[in-house]
Amino acid sequence: MQESRQWILRRRGFWSRKVRLLSPGPSHIARILSDAIAYRDDLLQRQDACVRVVAGAADDGPGLIVDRFGRLVVCSDYNPAGQGEALIAALEAAFPGRSILLRWRGKEGDQALRLRWGGIPAPEQILAVEDGLRFEIGTDPRHDFGLFLDGRMARSRVRALAGGGLVLNLFSYTCGFGVAARAGGARDVVNVDPERRYLSWGRRNAALNGTDFRVVPDTAQAFLRRCRRRAQRGAAEHFDVVVADPPAFGVGRGDDRVLRKFWPELLESVAVLEPAHAVLLCNDKAHRGYEDFEATVQAALGDAYDVTAVHHGREILGREPARRDPWYDPPRVLHARRK
Ligand SMILES: C[S@@+](CC[C@H](N)C(=O)[O-])C[C@H]1O[C@@H](n2cnc3c(N)ncnc32)[C@H](O)[C@@H]1O
Repeated sequence: MQESRQWILRRRGFWSRKVRLLSPGPSHIARILSDAIAYRDDLLQRQDACVRVVAGAADDGPGLIVDRFGRLVVCSDYNPAGQGEALIAALEAAFPGRSILLRWRGKEGDQALRLRWGGIPAPEQILAVEDGLRFEIGTDPRHDFGLFLDGRMARSRVRALAGGGLVLNLFSYTCGFGVAARAGGARDVVNVDPERRYLSWGRRNAALNGTDFRVVPDTAQAFLRRCRRRAQRGAAEHFDVVVADPPAFGVGRGDDRVLRKFWPELLESVAVLEPAHAVLLCNDKAHRGYEDFEATVQAALGDAYDVTAVHHGREILGREPARRDPWYDPPRVLHARRK
């Protein structure tokens, strides 16, 4: 007992030393920011562009993610031994004339992020642009900001596949995939999310791009079960493209909340719906298939589908893509194409 306690203490010491070594000091932070900005210079030219500016260890800042949503800059420092509030000065110098929100992990083991605003005061909403599409960006961190920038290549893939088709967007949040699909010529999109406020936000995003689509305030589980019952009666709508981007934990209780347990049923439902394309994102590190996500999806969808990875853009991969970040991974994105 005594021995295992000593082992735990030694292990804790090892990790806090390792974390300190990984944590960059203030002048190093200024250099990380200027190198990362120079690397993405072309993407940042448009002042209202949404761009991931720092991508953690790949940009020499383990745990440090900086996203610019036009006039809003959000810096999240997941490294428990990071600089905390001291980062604000470097961020204000790197992003003059913008609103800056810093979120950082208080101390080792603290899951909730602390917040501090800097730069110019933030309005309630901001309009920003990704690949020519306009999005309403929120400034209330409780609801995130309306667009997950590490979904950019997945949105672009959906846009390329959507032409003329009916698209199902599960876990739609503010309907970023729906907007991309309509821009790619989708005849309609059905966006499913239990949070009505996100669906209204999604319809405002559609309007900003001169379009509209359907929204369904429901869970993906309930929606798919209904679809499958209708399919058995031969009365289901046929979706040409299905997009699923589930969080690890969703709304509801028990198994309904633990969405990582829903993957087998989700994939079985995709197989039953037989879309020409499915674009699937895995954000969940604890999911058994995070490393073997591709094999899991291929096995569930069977020989009828070819499954390939969708690679992130260089702004998400950072300057040294081979360097894995101990605290952050972008989602794994797969495209399943019906043969
Ligand atoms: C990872 S985000 C999805 C991001 C989104 N696909 C995008 O493009 O930005 C999680 C979303 O899943 C929704 N959600 C949570 N539980 C859900 C469920 N059981 N069914 C459908 N959506 C759910 C949340 O309300 C939230 O909007």
